[in-house]
Amino acid sequence: MRNIVLIGFMGCGKTTLGRFISTNKGYKFVDTDDIIVEKQGRSINDIFAMEGEAYFRQLETDTIKEMLGSVSDTVISVGGGLPVREENQGLLRELGLCVYLRTSKEELVRRLKDDTSRPLLAGGDIEKKIEELMSKRKDIYESTAELIIDTDGLNRVQIVNTIMERI
Ligand code: S3P
Repeated sequence: MRNIVLIGFMGCGKTTLGRFISTNKGYKFVDTDDIIVEKQGRSINDIFAMEGEAYFRQLETDTIKEMLGSVSDTVISVGGGLPVREENQGLLRELGLCVYLRTSKEELVRRLKDDTSRPLLAGGDIEKKIEELMSKRKDIYESTAELIIDTDGLNRVQIVNTIMERI
C-alpha cells in the first residue's frame, strides 16, 4: 500500500486521524514528532529551549530522509512546520500520498487555546500567533499536497473515505 502522509497546521488532527486510519485500514502509523522525541529522549519543548528551532528542523529532515525507502504501508503524521523547508516538500511527496488537512483558524484556536506542548504557540495572543504562522504556511501546505481536505464539519470516517478514494 502507498504511504499516506498527513500534513497541516498544529491541531488539524493529523495524529488522531493517522491513528484512526491505522486501526481501521491496516496501515502502520508513525509520527515524526514521536520519533524525534524518542530518539532525543526529551520533549519538543526541551529540544526547542535547549537547542533552538533550527536544530529541531534538521532533525525533522533527517527523520523523513531515513523513512524514504524503508517505510511502507504506513500513515505518516508530520509536524506542522516540517513542510516549510523547501527540501522537505519533495521528500514528502516521494514518501506517499500527501494529504493536507485544512482546518479553519477558528477551529484551530478552539483546539489549541489551552495547549502547552507547542513551543511556537507559547505566550501571547494565540489567535494572532496562529494567524501569523498560517499566513506563512498556507500556500506551502497547498502546493505540497496532492489532496486537500477541508476538515471543518467532517467526521473521521468522511475524511478517511475521501483519502481512500485517492490512494
Ligand atoms: C510545530 C508543530 C508541532 C511540532 C513542533 C513545531 C510547527 O507538531 O513539530 O511543536 O512548527 O508547526 P504538530 O503539528 O504535530 O503539533
